[in-house]
Amino acid sequence: MDKEPIIQTIGLGKDYLTAAGPVPALQEISLSIYPGEFVAIMGPSGSGKSTFMNLLGCLDIPSAGEYYLNGTSVRTLDRNQLARLRNDAIGFVFQGFNLLPRINLLANVALPLIYAGVSKAEREERAQQMLDKVGLGKYGLSLPGRISGGQQQRVAIARALVNRPRLILADEPTGNLDTRTSQEIMNLFTQMNREQGITVILVTHEPDIAAYAMRLVRFVDGHLAYDGAVGNDTQGARP
Ligand SMILES: Nc1ncnc2c1ncn2[C@@H]1O[C@H](COP(=O)(O)OP(=O)(O)OP(=O)(O)O)[C@@H](O)[C@H]1O
Ligand SMILES: [Mg+2]
Repeated sequence: MDKEPIIQTIGLGKDYLTAAGPVPALQEISLSIYPGEFVAIMGPSGSGKSTFMNLLGCLDIPSAGEYYLNGTSVRTLDRNQLARLRNDAIGFVFQGFNLLPRINLLANVALPLIYAGVSKAEREERAQQMLDKVGLGKYGLSLPGRISGGQQQRVAIARALVNRPRLILADEPTGNLDTRTSQEIMNLFTQMNREQGITVILVTHEPDIAAYAMRLVRFVDGHLAYDGAVGNDTQGARP
């Protein structure tokens, strides 16, 4: 690929400091991800998947190595710059949906636009567009508790996309969903990736979910154990 990577890590590492001493969660991770890629991250529980996603999302700082996001070393940014980068460049989707329960779906989707300083009229318009896009246009005034888990995750995806980020980070986004609903959510990610060229990086425990991606990265004990085509994982599809 001739484009510049959207993500490049060089010898990236993370130790968590605990009372019992440092816990090495991630070691020597060097990889590049290019605009428009769809990458699945797999690996056993505790292998460092969420740690890696938190570093990529600038939610945590590495203990070692370098991380370049869009060519910028995140090490050079202060807290405000990091917060802005996070809000503008990255959409997050989590296993637990993380919607605010007391405000309606439109307000949930519009939330990142408040931090981005977008006017109220434009916020409402863009939030409605995003709800339409995920097939929930009629539910804008409902509260999150009144819709299904799959619908809540679609709202979370609408919220992740409302700022038009070039990168989506999803940590087990289908972990709480049944098979059919998981497929719907994965079709949504695939559509965003193919039609808008949004880079998608998605953690999953399930081979069926990883199969939607073009590239598979596997962690074992905090190390990069595999990086390649989804079908060629020599250690078998299961973590
Ligand atoms: N805040 C923390 N403090 C101390 N240790 C942590 C912390 N977060 C994670 N760890 C440890 O770091 C290692 C990697 O954890 P991580 O959450 O990245 O794994 P994971 O691959 O996402 O697992 P899972 O599939 O269960 O979500 C584990 O040994 C974990 O116990
Ligand atoms: Mg995790």
